[in-house]
Amino acid sequence: MSAQPKPDNAASPRPPVTLTKLMAMKQAREKLVMLTCYDASFAALMDQCGVDILLVGDSLGMVVAGYDSTLPVTMEQMVYHTECVVRGAKRPWIVADMPFGSYQKNMEQAYANASRFLSAGAHMVKVEGGQWLIPTIEFLATRDIPVCGHLGLTPQSVHALGGYRVQGKTEEAAQRLQKEALALENAGARLLVLEAIPQTLGTATSAALKIPTIGIGAGPSCDGQVLVMHDLLGVYPGKKARFVKNFMEGATSIEAAFTNYVNAVKRLEFPAPEHCF
Ligand code: KIV
Repeated sequence: MSAQPKPDNAASPRPPVTLTKLMAMKQAREKLVMLTCYDASFAALMDQCGVDILLVGDSLGMVVAGYDSTLPVTMEQMVYHTECVVRGAKRPWIVADMPFGSYQKNMEQAYANASRFLSAGAHMVKVEGGQWLIPTIEFLATRDIPVCGHLGLTPQSVHALGGYRVQGKTEEAAQRLQKEALALENAGARLLVLEAIPQTLGTATSAALKIPTIGIGAGPSCDGQVLVMHDLLGVYPGKKARFVKNFMEGATSIEAAFTNYVNAVKRLEFPAPEHCF
């Protein structure tokens, strides 16, 4: 008999995840589980393990292509990996990261590139940034392109931020982030990733918004959690970030590690205090 752990929702029928479902999960206080994914095989396995949202992250530039930041990632690379993930997954909601330089120029550029991701099978696109992105998000949302925002440590701004540093630490920075989160929601964003911020700010921002927040180093009160797949599997060069947990420790397979992550997020066991700022 298999000793594999089972996702908590394994026995129930699992229709495809929709935006309505994600909103209902927030209202029901059921945690959303997101993982980065870059190919069809892992997409199928994550689907089977009960992951709700697959993020085709531009982190693939670092963990797949070996660049030292996400900045060199191209539209062609992102569209190719989105198509791979779409072929592997049936149930999860699929978010494609818009790479650096593909949405910053103007709204028309953002629309042209975002529509390529929806044509490739993604359900939503993700963009990094605050106030300056409001007109772009409005432009996409009014044209029925679901948008996920990303605030806090935004890796495409690594040089402007002076490195991969925790954000929102001062009262002023925290207030600015909260204001921007509300502005993104008002502009039409339907999901928001919060990366590397104090957990008190993750809690306050999640409570202030109607749309779900997904934290990565933003504390356990976010409506969901995301990890980079390679981090979860303990495959990363260099120093492990504080918010990372290696779910391969104590697991007998990759499938078990994914399932343990899903269950840990749903049961509010991850992130623990040692993963928070
Ligand atoms: O590209 C990515 O993997 C991301 C996550 C870190 C949220 O944006």
